[in-house]
Amino acid sequence: MAYVIALAGKGGTGKTTIAGLIVRLLGESKRGSVLAVDADPNSNLGEVLGVTPQETIGEILDFIGAHPDKIPAGMTKDRFIEYKVQTAVQEAKGFDLLTMGKPEGPGCYCYVNNVLRSVVERLMQEYDYVVIDNEAGLEHLSRRTTRRADCLLVVAQPSAVSLKAAQRIKQLVGQLQIETRQSVLLINASRGRVDPAQVRETGLLLAGKLAFDQTLARLSARGSSLTGLSRRSKMMATLEKILKKTIDH
Ligand SMILES: Nc1ncnc2c1ncn2[C@@H]1O[C@H](COP(=O)(O)OP(=O)(O)OP(=O)(O)O)[C@@H](O)[C@H]1O
Ligand SMILES: [Mg+2]
Repeated sequence: MAYVIALAGKGGTGKTTIAGLIVRLLGESKRGSVLAVDADPNSNLGEVLGVTPQETIGEILDFIGAHPDKIPAGMTKDRFIEYKVQTAVQEAKGFDLLTMGKPEGPGCYCYVNNVLRSVVERLMQEYDYVVIDNEAGLEHLSRRTTRRADCLLVVAQPSAVSLKAAQRIKQLVGQLQIETRQSVLLINASRGRVDPAQVRETGLLLAGKLAFDQTLARLSARGSSLTGLSRRSKMMATLEKILKKTIDH
């Protein structure tokens, strides 16, 4: 069964950056096959990983909505969605990428989302590791991907506001019936001391802290992918240590 790592956290805390670095670390470690899922409608995980997404699931759904007649004869709509999702998976060096995107067309996607969730869940089972980058706020978490995560990494910056958001996410996990084996806190872009009382209040176990990284900031400002960050950088080494300690797989 695939080991699913899902990232959550307030806007701009570093979810996509960390998801990208985890995908890189898992891919380079050759521990097993890796699927990166960009579940943020404003997709940018591909960019961070240096892959240009070709077709998003949102575009596929729009196509099916606008051209129901294009579903091949003898194929059910569900089967067609499954087929299109498989063709949307992009192969890259060390990992595959699935970009969910967002449908632009009108209409209710509840039915399609349910089909999609089971299709994506089945696809995930073909991999050893799945890393899901989510949009900010947990309300949307996994409406179209999965409701299960072996490890939910809640990313927060070392500020009271960001840690409060992490606490709310922890509370929401229970309410939204998201199944997690463990939910942990990852403090990102820390430039110094973090108030231990604020960390305790989140109710999450602290997995570790990542420092503010100048190279990362420079790459991002230039719009470059994170492949430019050295494997031997402090950021990568720290994240690798955190993963080893946190991921029980
Ligand atoms: N440790 C770090 N050091 C320096 N810059 C960082 C660090 N982590 C993230 N950043 C930068 O912060 C910005 C926001 O990061 P990112 O896009 O990963 O956040 P996000 O949580 O995915 O945001 P959103 O909620 O909009 O999806 C980016 O420019 C990124 O390069
Ligand atoms: Mg993001």
